[in-house]
Amino acid sequence: MPRAETGFSVLSDDFAAAPYRYFAGLRERAPVHYEPAIDSYFLSRYQDVKRVLTDHQAFSTETLQVRAEPVMRGPVLAQMTGAEHTAKRKIVVRGFTGQALQDQIRAIRANAAELIAPFLPRGRVDLVNDFGKPLAVYVTLDVLGLDKKDWQQVAAWHSGVAEFITSIVLTPERRRHCLDCAEQLEAYLVPLIEQRRRHPGEDLISTLCTAEFDGIAMSNRDVTALIINVLAAATEPADKTLALLIKHLIDHPEQMAQVRQDPTLLPAAIAETLRYTPPVQLIPRQSEKDAVFAGTTVPVGATIFCMIGAANRDPDAFTAPDTFDIHRPDLGTARSFTAAAQHLAFGTGLHQCVGAAFARAEIETVAAMLIPLLDQVHYSPDFRYRETGLYTRGPASLSLDFTPVHEGVPGHD
Ligand code: HEM
Repeated sequence: MPRAETGFSVLSDDFAAAPYRYFAGLRERAPVHYEPAIDSYFLSRYQDVKRVLTDHQAFSTETLQVRAEPVMRGPVLAQMTGAEHTAKRKIVVRGFTGQALQDQIRAIRANAAELIAPFLPRGRVDLVNDFGKPLAVYVTLDVLGLDKKDWQQVAAWHSGVAEFITSIVLTPERRRHCLDCAEQLEAYLVPLIEQRRRHPGEDLISTLCTAEFDGIAMSNRDVTALIINVLAAATEPADKTLALLIKHLIDHPEQMAQVRQDPTLLPAAIAETLRYTPPVQLIPRQSEKDAVFAGTTVPVGATIFCMIGAANRDPDAFTAPDTFDIHRPDLGTARSFTAAAQHLAFGTGLHQCVGAAFARAEIETVAAMLIPLLDQVHYSPDFRYRETGLYTRGPASLSLDFTPVHEGVPGHD
């Protein structure tokens, strides 16, 4: 079994504080990093990560079953394969495309305007906690057709579910708490599912209730699992990406000025944010047979973590990878939100994110509204930037000052 590099651990506080500092060393000197405490392998090279995510025979999503099913209360997309996976993905995608997407964009704009309004006259907002987090939950609730008055409760349950899936190590107390959250979320959802079966609307829950797989309608358990799947998958990365986008533009004022002047650059800025700082940092898989990477054998049955942040900064995949550059020729903005994306922020292969196009629409809509409102935006004087999270990662807060706005917000009536 390969030894961990002396003294280095991805579970250390040093790594948690600034993982990007270690990525080049990992790729060059420990591309197959073994972590004995959790008996798992961490891959950091772009080609290795891509291989794991696209070779579905050799690397399965079995680990996600253990990680997700107890809190999703049923089978989730990530653990499915074959015809069931294809059919259920298609049903979920229907909820985010065509007319549904147009309606959602209108709702996103209205939600964003409502949430930012109280902060505009003050000229100060914490973009993460005051705005991005509630917005991402509002948007997901709208998609699902759930009542926004319940958002704080749903957000609290959701955070327990997310903690279960994304924790590398979980104490028995936290595990119990997360499972309680999932049970309460299920108890909240089941009566709603039954009501939508009787009176279907245009929302995703109704679509899931009325859709059939193999000629059989989905059970309450199947629908609950898919709803929690979407709730967990859609909410967290979207709010992190928005905050990271604004942060990178503040840190690169010339690129902020270009985006302000030409908002058609926004998709490139979002794609580059996803490449440079992917909010989903780790994607787990299980090896179905012995596999050799850079001369090291990963044994059958091992847990492998694909390090997306490290892969996206691999000089074999992107020129000058540690530079944030919305004009980089190797970005390929148009394909950045499709199966042909060069960056791996949405994963790749069969389980690539179903919400990529929706995420682009959501973040672009919000950023296009927000950036013109935040004139002269800069960090608040005593603000200290800090990121958290090993599995999903983003700013803990983003306290911004800007020129106060006293007249109404466009789109908010
Ligand atoms: C910037 C925002 C987002 C990022 C970075 C992101 C990232 C990811 C990643 C990395 C995966 C692949 C996991 C794997 O291979 O195991 C994934 C899967 C998934 N995402 Fe997203 N996601 C985002 C937004 C969304 C949104 C808005 C939705 C829903 C509207 C969504 C729904 C899903 C679902 C359902 C899956 C599971 C797909 C499957 O297993 O077939 N995501 N996402």
